[in-house]
Amino acid sequence: MSYEAVEAAARAIAERTGRESHDVGLVLGSGLSAFAESLADSVSIDSAEIGFPQPRVAGHAGRIVSATIGGVRLLASAGRVHTYEGWDLADVVFGVRALVLAGCNVVILTNAAGGMGPGLVPGDLVALRDHINMVARNPLVGPNDSRFGPRFPDMSAIYPAGLREIVAKSAADVGIEYKEGVYAWQLGPSYETPAEIQMLASVGADVVGMSTVPEAIALAHMGVPVVGISLVTNLAAGISTTPLSHEEVTEIAGAARTKFTALLTNLIPRLGRT
Ligand code: HPA
Repeated sequence: MSYEAVEAAARAIAERTGRESHDVGLVLGSGLSAFAESLADSVSIDSAEIGFPQPRVAGHAGRIVSATIGGVRLLASAGRVHTYEGWDLADVVFGVRALVLAGCNVVILTNAAGGMGPGLVPGDLVALRDHINMVARNPLVGPNDSRFGPRFPDMSAIYPAGLREIVAKSAADVGIEYKEGVYAWQLGPSYETPAEIQMLASVGADVVGMSTVPEAIALAHMGVPVVGISLVTNLAAGISTTPLSHEEVTEIAGAARTKFTALLTNLIPRLGRT
């Protein structure tokens, strides 16, 4: 996907939303897209119509939703595409690049994840401190388009401490507890084996999932800071005594919706003011 294709999508977003620019971008993970539907005075676009790759799951049309929260212009994307569906990484990161060219100068990436960090239980929210790319793939492989960013971008502060402090303030404001941790990207679609989870825990990962990392790399390449939020939907393989299932993931995500919504509703205006 070329720079021009991303630019065209960003232009289409501006035209269809009637908003020349946006402030904060948001990518909604598995089971978390209800947040986009709950927004008042929003404009919703079928993302297929503006060139976004579409999730290859029946009944999961991608949507781009524009809304203002506390005066801050939010651009949310529901229905991300995953590498395990067979997409090229350039397609996987198309959406976040479009959010940035549509004006967002900070992006919140959310996901459902398995938890293996100390004390993590299903329902916990984890603000990402860093990530580990376990997939040996990278969205920046290939010719570098310097309009996106440099050939060899720095990755030492993808999830800046200053933004994590803002998450802490929001969580305190709305009275929810959350933790901080490191996210490990696994390709999927199979869940991990217990031995793989032990290895991930031993190298410092707290949560594991099948998304977020390619998008975070593409955003860091563009010089855009990331807030990463994982919802722990299950204990990771081997830590859990029961088999993992997608139903469990969506059920826990649904149950955590209230606190997730409360956190985002407080956080988005704060981020827009930074
Ligand atoms: N592993 C990988 N991805 C996931 C998990 C998990 O345990 N839970 C939700 N997404």
